[in-house]
Amino acid sequence: MYTSKISGLGSYVPENVVTNDDLSKVMDTNDEWIQERTGIKERRHIKKGDGNSTSIMGVKAAKIALERAKLTTDDIELIIFATLSPDMYFPGGGVRVQEMMNMRTIPALDVRNQCSGFVYAISVADQFIKTGMYKNVLVIGSENHSGGLDMTTRGRGVSVIFGDGAGAAVLTRSEEEGRGILSTHLHSEGAHAKELSLEGPSTEHWVPEIISENPQENIPYYPYMNGQFVFKNAVVRFSEVINEGLQANNLSATDINMLIPHQANLRISQFVQRQFKLSDDQVYNNIQKYGNTTAASIPIALTEAWEQGKIKEGDLVVLAAFGSGFTWGSAIIRW
Ligand SMILES: CC(C)(COP(=O)(O)OP(=O)(O)OC[C@H]1O[C@@H](n2cnc3c(N)ncnc32)[C@H](O)[C@@H]1OP(=O)(O)O)[C@@H](O)C(=O)NCCC(=O)NCCS
Repeated sequence: MYTSKISGLGSYVPENVVTNDDLSKVMDTNDEWIQERTGIKERRHIKKGDGNSTSIMGVKAAKIALERAKLTTDDIELIIFATLSPDMYFPGGGVRVQEMMNMRTIPALDVRNQCSGFVYAISVADQFIKTGMYKNVLVIGSENHSGGLDMTTRGRGVSVIFGDGAGAAVLTRSEEEGRGILSTHLHSEGAHAKELSLEGPSTEHWVPEIISENPQENIPYYPYMNGQFVFKNAVVRFSEVINEGLQANNLSATDINMLIPHQANLRISQFVQRQFKLSDDQVYNNIQKYGNTTAASIPIALTEAWEQGKIKEGDLVVLAAFGSGFTWGSAIIRW
């Protein structure tokens, strides 16, 4: 019986720091409002000319993860790339990573599951490893939000929250029972697709149509978010899917050593922490520094927690995410 373990982790964020005060210079917002509602102090934005893109940041994170896994690109048999902000409408980021890393003609698959993209992606990787089809899978979550946000007062309810960055994990076959990814749990509820969405440009809203049909105040090529509705659903689904994962493995909240929640909003993470009666050092948060980096948030947080020695051999690590779709999921890992 094969399982998959995380054999290497890496992350990358652009150098350009954008503070809440920086945002207040271009839109009607302020540090107090942003920190009080989201916990965010600053985020990173790609700067024009700094050479970054969604797939380039993914490559930077992936190189670190591969080195730490002590593997080369030739060892990788599948790339899974999670993002909502690909460099191009098509093809996806996976093939761009393959090209930039000079990899063989291995399969490359993009996952479009927004904030839960990384959890979905490692679940897919885990299935391929469990069946024996692949030994080493490279999973990347990367986002360039700043390229597509409305940086005016009109977009302030969304734009202050999101940031750029990438994280990567190498998943490797293991035969050690009871270790590695114990289980993953995935859900979606398409009835709420529009509550956190970006409608166009798309095949439903192509560019000429957008320009002719939409007045300036209703532009569907910027993200829309029904913040309070998202918040209320997030706290319920996070808790449900963590409980589902624990129960599937006959575990309880007291067994958790480290919870890595998708960095949606510090208030959401704190709510979940209270529900599971976890201490501050059992939940890793870095949204204060990076904002919400969607598919990149869990692998960046997981990498940092591991780098800081907060995850040790044998620890029970729980990943949980919720976001646009709505989609949500969890992964229960024995490190
Ligand atoms: C987005 C969020 C922070 C907004 O907080 P909120 O308390 O719901 O705030 P509201 O949207 O009700 O807005 C309250 C007021 O602040 C204003 N406001 C919105 N964004 C603002 C900003 N960046 N700066 C200052 N004021 C702002 C609104 O216009 C509104 O003003 P009004 O009362 O005069 O109409 C909150 O709903 C949230 O975190 N939701 C979950 C988002 C999330 O996690 N998304 C990712 C999911 S993966």
